[in-house]
Amino acid sequence: MDDVILVTGAQGTIGSMLRRSLRRPGRHLRLLDVAPLSPLEPDENAELITGSFLDAEVMADACQGARAIVHLGGLSHAGFSWPEYLEVNIHGTYLLAEAARHARVERVVYASSNHAVGFAPLRDGGPVPDYEYPRPDSYYGVSKVASEALLGLYQDRYGLDAVCLRIASYLDRPTTLRSLWSWLSPGDCTRLVEAALTAPSPGFRVVWGVSANSRAAVSLDEGRAIGYEPLDNAEDYAGEITGDQTEWKYVGGPYSAPNFE
Ligand SMILES: NC(=O)c1ccc[n+]([C@@H]2O[C@H](COP(=O)([O-])OP(=O)(O)OC[C@H]3O[C@@H](n4cnc5c(N)ncnc54)[C@H](O)[C@@H]3O)[C@@H](O)[C@H]2O)c1
Repeated sequence: MDDVILVTGAQGTIGSMLRRSLRRPGRHLRLLDVAPLSPLEPDENAELITGSFLDAEVMADACQGARAIVHLGGLSHAGFSWPEYLEVNIHGTYLLAEAARHARVERVVYASSNHAVGFAPLRDGGPVPDYEYPRPDSYYGVSKVASEALLGLYQDRYGLDAVCLRIASYLDRPTTLRSLWSWLSPGDCTRLVEAALTAPSPGFRVVWGVSANSRAAVSLDEGRAIGYEPLDNAEDYAGEITGDQTEWKYVGGPYSAPNFE
């Protein structure tokens, strides 16, 4: 029987990449998005679900027989209102966790964000730890913290494993000075999600989502503990950076600026 994995937000930037790179023999991807999904390719072992994770019926069906969920869907950056984050990102994670629990899904891999700890200072003395206490830099960051907390509750109370990936900057190539420490390449993003999907009994984990960048500013310990071995390094592109050259003091970069939001 195929290993069924539900991917929310499958039409988004990261989802469209993972849709290709997570293909494996014996794995069936259930691709869910509110946006119309690109058609299946002939050899693709997948199905398309156009619908919202805010719809309990859609989620009950989508979770049937799934072993794991990769939860990428939702509002993926700052700029929305508090009620929107509350509904889509926070309540959405609650509805997803409930559907997962009822369908006996084993684990959720959650796309959290560096903005959960965006006001953590970048340290001279060493990397920002994996379990850095939440210091969100935006309502968006708060929605990520709340979702991590919800998944922690469901792990402790119901045994639904959860690997929360604090993704820094997912980009084809680094473009700013900040991204020389924060870059997560597409290849490493795949390696990270693959590790989060296959690590034996992970329990509840918080893991940084960055590549093996020479200007490392965050821990890779928990990533390595679940079997993530990043291969890419932003330094290879250091000579080509044309974007923002600001040396940000805090993890969240521009989101931590005084006039942000
Ligand atoms: N891209 C990055 O650098 C980055 C950094 C940190 C965290 N993240 C997180 O990773 C995840 C994916 O990021 P992305 O860049 O691919 O985002 P994206 O905005 O490109 O994709 C998000 C997708 O979610 C879908 N969606 C929104 N609401 C939905 C709903 N109710 N039901 C079903 N689908 C819904 C959207 O239609 C969209 O296709 C997000 O949760 C984001 O917060 C991304």
